[in-house]
Amino acid sequence: MDSGRFSLQGKVALVTGGSRGIGRAIALAMAEAGADVAVSGRKLPPLEEVAQEIAQRGRKSLAVASHIAKVEDSRTLVERVKDEWGRIDILVNNAGTNPYYGPLLEAEEWAWDVTMNVNLKGPFLLSQLVARLMREQGGGSIINIASIMGIIPSELGIYSVTKAGLIMLTKVLAKELGQYKIRVNAIAPGVVKTRLSEALWKEPAKAEAAAGRKALGYIGEPEDIAGAAVYLASDASSYVTGEVIIVDGGESVGPAPVYD
Ligand SMILES: NC(=O)c1ccc[n+]([C@@H]2O[C@H](COP(=O)([O-])OP(=O)(O)OC[C@H]3O[C@@H](n4cnc5c(N)ncnc54)[C@H](OP(=O)(O)O)[C@@H]3O)[C@@H](O)[C@H]2O)c1
Repeated sequence: MDSGRFSLQGKVALVTGGSRGIGRAIALAMAEAGADVAVSGRKLPPLEEVAQEIAQRGRKSLAVASHIAKVEDSRTLVERVKDEWGRIDILVNNAGTNPYYGPLLEAEEWAWDVTMNVNLKGPFLLSQLVARLMREQGGGSIINIASIMGIIPSELGIYSVTKAGLIMLTKVLAKELGQYKIRVNAIAPGVVKTRLSEALWKEPAKAEAAAGRKALGYIGEPEDIAGAAVYLASDASSYVTGEVIIVDGGESVGPAPVYD
């Protein structure tokens, strides 16, 4: 099927945190849309499995172990992809973490540092490296995986602050990089069933409550996020930059009203 402006045929994508969850779903959806895809994360074996799944979809794939908070790792990552394919058209800053669940008043400095470094400093430094390459190439698309918790304050306090920062990073980069035909957008998912969010849905009572807050009435799967990423990566979104697409199953609008 020719998907026209929604096609990613001929494009090269780099997806951080591509070994599982939302990153894996985005990597596979981009491969299905025609892109060659590199996936990164700290542990190589699960990345290699995803690389195989990409290859099964008829696309080229690459798995690179890389810690997002270590700039030397990011430099090597970008070089690896460049050596392999000569370009990067799409960067998905998806790797993220939340090591602490509890009130800000009790949070320790290490939790602040780890969350900031992985969720905000890492995407900043990698975007810088990739945007320089995109500028030489004449354009590209950067997609930051933020969170609804970066818009509405949540019980994951430090995490919320990092995601709010990532949304502002998206807007500032969009403003600076538009002149180079580099678009920068964010996706703000609501709760999706992954390892990172287990504390919010593993217990049946919490899962029911989380589902009940959404107009669509269920907690999303990673695949529910991938379509927005393919859209933002493709030429179909050629005039969209500095935007945040909320993909939360209608959590922001809430469940159906009760009249009696
Ligand atoms: N799940 C949700 O409800 C939800 C909602 C809103 C936003 N998000 C965001 O979506 C993104 C993906 O999360 P997910 O839910 O799919 O989580 P996940 O299933 O736990 O996956 C996280 C991915 O990030 C990688 N990663 C973690 N720390 C890393 C580091 N320091 N350096 C490089 N890679 C690292 C992991 O691989 P390794 O462990 O091998 O490094 C893994 O591939 C995150 O930015 C998260 O904040 C999630």
